Amino acid sequence: MNTTTTATAAPAAAHTWPRTIDCNGTAVQLDVIRAGDEAALLAFAEALPEQDLLFTYRDISQPRVIKAWIRESVDRDRLPTVLARVDGKVIGCTSLIHDDFSWSPHVGELRVVVGAEARGLGLGRQLIQASFAQALALGLEKLVAQMTTDQRASIAMFESMGFRAEALLANHVRDRSGRKHDIVMLSHDVNEVAARLSAYGVGG
Ligand SMILES: CC(C)(COP(=O)(O)OP(=O)(O)OC[C@H]1O[C@@H](n2cnc3c(N)ncnc32)[C@H](O)[C@@H]1OP(=O)(O)O)[C@@H](O)C(=O)NCCC(=O)NCCS
Repeated sequence: MNTTTTATAAPAAAHTWPRTIDCNGTAVQLDVIRAGDEAALLAFAEALPEQDLLFTYRDISQPRVIKAWIRESVDRDRLPTVLARVDGKVIGCTSLIHDDFSWSPHVGELRVVVGAEARGLGLGRQLIQASFAQALALGLEKLVAQMTTDQRASIAMFESMGFRAEALLANHVRDRSGRKHDIVMLSHDVNEVAARLSAYGVGG
């Protein structure tokens, strides 16, 4: 069975925050990150399995990293982030990194993490759709996501949403024990999806 889906979310829902989604029977609230979210985000990061923290781009268990993240997202509006919550507790998040003043203003990078206890419920897929909708709204043309080559489940998930491996960078990240790992960069042509939506008369 071909399970490939597009990462595209219904564009009409892109600007409605907060909103509640269904994850395998659990009601999960999605909302953009807000100034008061520091403690909840830190608690989420601290509860992540060591294995995941080894490979996050920045060490999000550090309060100063969380502070900078919120500053970029909320104060400077440069790092659109969506948090997923159940009963107020953060169980996952997605961020879209992009820089209008870089040499790739048309490219966004996705970073998504779901807490260990919430995995396999479809949340990762819905968080990526939320970021994808934000990318469309921002007019980004290409999305990339980076992960170590041993993150097989993540790679399979991104591929099932239309991302394709574009580059392999050898020994590119170093874990806390000092070991180096290869990373794969996956990419998705947002522009092409937007054109397809427009051809079908879906827009807004
Ligand atoms: C990648 C990640 C976000 C997926 O989150 P999730 O909420 O478990 O994902 P979903 O439940 O939406 O699953 C999406 C698909 O991936 C597959 N999948 C998820 N976890 C899997 C696993 N451990 N093994 C095999 N497949 C898996 C599911 O089968 C699902 O496919 P389906 O919808 O056809 O059934 C999560 O595993 C994670 O946070 N990993 C660590 C951080 C990371 O690698 N981020 C990606 C780099 S930015």
